[in-house]
Amino acid sequence: MSVRNFTDLPPLSLYIHIPWCLKKCPYCDFNSHENRHDVLPEQQYVDALLADLQQELPEIWGRQIVSIFIGGGTPSLFSASAIDSLLSGVRALTAASPTVEITMEANPGTFEQKKFRDFREAGINRLSIGVQSFNDQCLNALGRVHDSGEAERAFVMAREAGFDNINIDLMYGLPEQSLTMAHADLSTAINLQPEHISYYQLTLEPNTLFASQPPALPHDDIRWDMHTQGVQLLSEHGFKRYEVSAYARDNNTCQHNQNYWLYGDYVGIGAGAHGKLSMAATGEIVRRWKRKHPTQYLEHAHSEQRIGGQHTVTAEDTALDFLMNALRLTDGFTIPLFQLHTGMALHQWQTVINKAIDDGLLETKGVSLSTTEHGFDYLNELLERFIPDEAEHRYPVIPLLQSKD
Ligand SMILES: C[S@@+](CC[C@H](N)C(=O)[O-])C[C@H]1O[C@@H](n2cnc3c(N)ncnc32)[C@H](O)[C@@H]1O
Ligand code: SF4
Repeated sequence: MSVRNFTDLPPLSLYIHIPWCLKKCPYCDFNSHENRHDVLPEQQYVDALLADLQQELPEIWGRQIVSIFIGGGTPSLFSASAIDSLLSGVRALTAASPTVEITMEANPGTFEQKKFRDFREAGINRLSIGVQSFNDQCLNALGRVHDSGEAERAFVMAREAGFDNINIDLMYGLPEQSLTMAHADLSTAINLQPEHISYYQLTLEPNTLFASQPPALPHDDIRWDMHTQGVQLLSEHGFKRYEVSAYARDNNTCQHNQNYWLYGDYVGIGAGAHGKLSMAATGEIVRRWKRKHPTQYLEHAHSEQRIGGQHTVTAEDTALDFLMNALRLTDGFTIPLFQLHTGMALHQWQTVINKAIDDGLLETKGVSLSTTEHGFDYLNELLERFIPDEAEHRYPVIPLLQSKD
C-alpha cells in the first residue's frame, strides 16, 4: 500500500475528560469513578489538564481548535470557577475562536442546576443533559440519582440560564419499559424543544454491573419497535437523524462529534482521554490515550508518564478506522474528504466497496458514499468487510466516542 500524503490537515478538536460521578451507574462503561473525596481535587485536576495540554502543543503548533467538549464522568460536579479557569487556560494556550462550540455534559440535580448560569458565563455554549428517561420507575431501574421532575427542571433552568443549544440524552430498551413508556419519554423530550436529542438503545457493556447481573430487558422485537417508533416520532417533529443515534432540529448538529465521525483530529486531555492526530511531516496518524485512573493521571500529568499508550494507524487499517466513524453518518462522506482526512486514496478499497454497493449496503450519490438503510441494520457486518487480513489480532480496541452525545 502507498504511504500517506496530507495536502492539508483535518480540523482539530479538543476533548477534556472529567472522571468523577456522584455514583457509578450499573450500565456505564465510561471512565467514571464514584467520588470518594469529600471535596473534588478541582484545582489540582485543572492544573493537570493544562499541563497535559501544554505537553501536547508541539504536535499541534499553528492549528486552530474548531470545537471543545468537556465530557465525563459528570463535569457539572465541578464548580463554575474551576470550569472558568480551565477554559481561560485553554484559551491562553491554544488558538480557538470565541464562537467555537464548547459543550459540557451535565447531570440533572439541584446542585448542578444552580451553576448553569455561571457555566454559561464561563464560556460553555452547548449543554448536554443526561436525562436518560423521564419515568421514575425507569430512572430507578437505571440506578440514577435524579427523578423525572429534576430532569424537566434541569432543561428549563438551562434555558433560563441562556443556553440556546441544548442536547438531551435519552435511552430506550430499559428494564421493564413498554413501547408506550418509550413513546412517552421521547414525547416529553420533544415537547421541551431541545435543539438536539441523542437516542441510544441501552446496551449491556462488559465489565459493568448490568453485564454480571443482567436486568430483564424488553424483547428484541419490542426494542426494534422502540427504535422505529423513535425515528418516526423524531422525524415528524423536525429532528433529522444525521447519525445512528443523533437527531438535530434546524441543523443544530454537534460540531464536535461530527468532527470525530468525519475522521477529524482531536487532542484528548484528562484521565483516560483519547486523541487522534495526523502528522504532516511524517505522514502518520497517531492515536494516543492517557492514564485511566484519576489518581495515577494526577500523579503523572506533568510528564510523559501521563500517556497510557499510543498506536500508529497503519496504511492497511486506514479504511476501517475511517469508515467505523464516517459510515455512522446518514449522509456519509465525500471521496475527496476521505483523501484529505486520511492522506490516502479510497480507490485502494474499491473492490470491497463495489461488492458492498452490489449487496445494497452502501450507495453513491455524486461524489458521496453512504450507508443504505439496509446497511445501517448490518453496520458491523459491513465494517467487517474492511478488516485487513489478520487485523483482528493487532487492532486495538478504540472507543468510537469518548462521550456518546
Ligand atoms: C458519558 S455518558 C454520561 C454523561 C452523564 N454523566 C450522564 O450520565 O448523564 C453519555 C451518554 O451515554 C449514554 N450511555 C451511557 N452508557 C450507555 C449504555 N450502556 N447504553 C447506551 N447508552 C449509554 C447515556 O445516554 C449517557 O448520557
Ligand atoms: S452514566 Fe454518567 S453519571 Fe452514570 S456513571 Fe456513567 S458517566 Fe457517571
